[in-house]
Amino acid sequence: MKIGIDSIAFSTSKYFLSLDVLAQQRNVDCEKYCFGIGQKKMSIFPPNEDIVTIAIDAAQKILSQIENKKDIDMLIFATESSFDISKSAGIYIHHFLGLKDDCRVFDVKQACYSATAALQLAKAYVNSNHRSKVLIIGSDIVRYSPGTSGEPTQGGAAVAFIVSQNPRILEIEPHFGAYTTDIMDFWRPISMKEALFDGKLSAHNYLKSLEICTKRYFEKSNLAISDVDHVCFHAPFGKMARKANNQLLKSKTIEETLIYNSIIGNSCSASLYVSFISLMDNFKCDFSKKRICFFSYGSGSVAEFFSGIISENYKKMLKAEEHQTMLSQRIEISFSEYESLHSNDFNDFSAYQNVGNVILSGIVDNKRIYVSMEDNN
Ligand code: HMG
Repeated sequence: MKIGIDSIAFSTSKYFLSLDVLAQQRNVDCEKYCFGIGQKKMSIFPPNEDIVTIAIDAAQKILSQIENKKDIDMLIFATESSFDISKSAGIYIHHFLGLKDDCRVFDVKQACYSATAALQLAKAYVNSNHRSKVLIIGSDIVRYSPGTSGEPTQGGAAVAFIVSQNPRILEIEPHFGAYTTDIMDFWRPISMKEALFDGKLSAHNYLKSLEICTKRYFEKSNLAISDVDHVCFHAPFGKMARKANNQLLKSKTIEETLIYNSIIGNSCSASLYVSFISLMDNFKCDFSKKRICFFSYGSGSVAEFFSGIISENYKKMLKAEEHQTMLSQRIEISFSEYESLHSNDFNDFSAYQNVGNVILSGIVDNKRIYVSMEDNN
């Protein structure tokens, strides 16, 4: 039975900071951020937007593509930026999406790898429950302390995809190569809002993991690099993915995979799948029957290299226009606004626009209050 991605879309904040502005303020050559790191803008999140609100927006883009929402009987929320270590972020979105209550909802966590863990879990689940559809959300907002080397690689986005049988976009193949090692390259203690990291160690371990995972994948699958048509990488910043591509196969479409990530920034669990969407939306060719490989890396660390075959009529499932409209309508913020949003001293929940129709309207007694603007109209 064919199982894989049946529909997919992403969402990000309405606001961004240009990295030219950040470079000027930090007294860094603009070329370093643009070419050395490979990033142009980063999404910045206002107080009324979080991993839940952008997740709802991403999911709403694809729900109209499935015949019956009642077939969704599992929702897996992949994130490393949750605000609650008990309640699943997925539960907040479940009722806004109008899903049935006979549905399992839970979060998964392993840094940027988590949405890939969710995908492989969902594939196994659909294999034994043929009529089931699983909604996977990967949603993260990446924050580093101001002035650190990670600062220009902040960002955030949510990706939503449905895993089902007879997928209309991508059939996931059985082969994979995985690699887990205990390493302190990036972590966020519960008490902290900003992640801690060892940048050089993380970049080194990313490339080492790629080498090990690809070796295992090719050994297990009996495929050769010449059997691969395109590769999408986890892209914490563009240069990291370009280095990975140089190490592996020098795929010509690496630039198309990075178009969205270069103006969103690192979106952790969503990043690899934003690379895939970026390739599909922006590279004008017929991908049907092509083999796409994926490299997922989550610090700490777990990495996986796997592949899929593009379905024949995938084109009608793409959301390219919606993605491009959303990105073109974003609003640039000044450096002082960025500083104020980053330090969280701006608590006026109504001063900013949301990307979608559900907003975080406030936090009362430590309870987050989400409101649909459609209900208010
Ligand atoms: P850095 O140390 O400030 O940068 O930050 P650098 O000095 O290494 O320079 C970067 C590149 O810019 C170099 O090129 C320089 O030559 C070039 P490279 O040698 O790499 O090819 N450069 C210039 N180019 C043009 N004009 C100039 C100029 N100056 C320098 N004037 C670092 C780099 C990776 C350390 C930083 O971005 C960082 O700490 N990032 C956060 C950690 C990270 O993203 N790691 C990536 C791998 S780990 C991962 O992907 C997991 C993660 O997503 C988290 C998760 O799993 O949850 C992070």
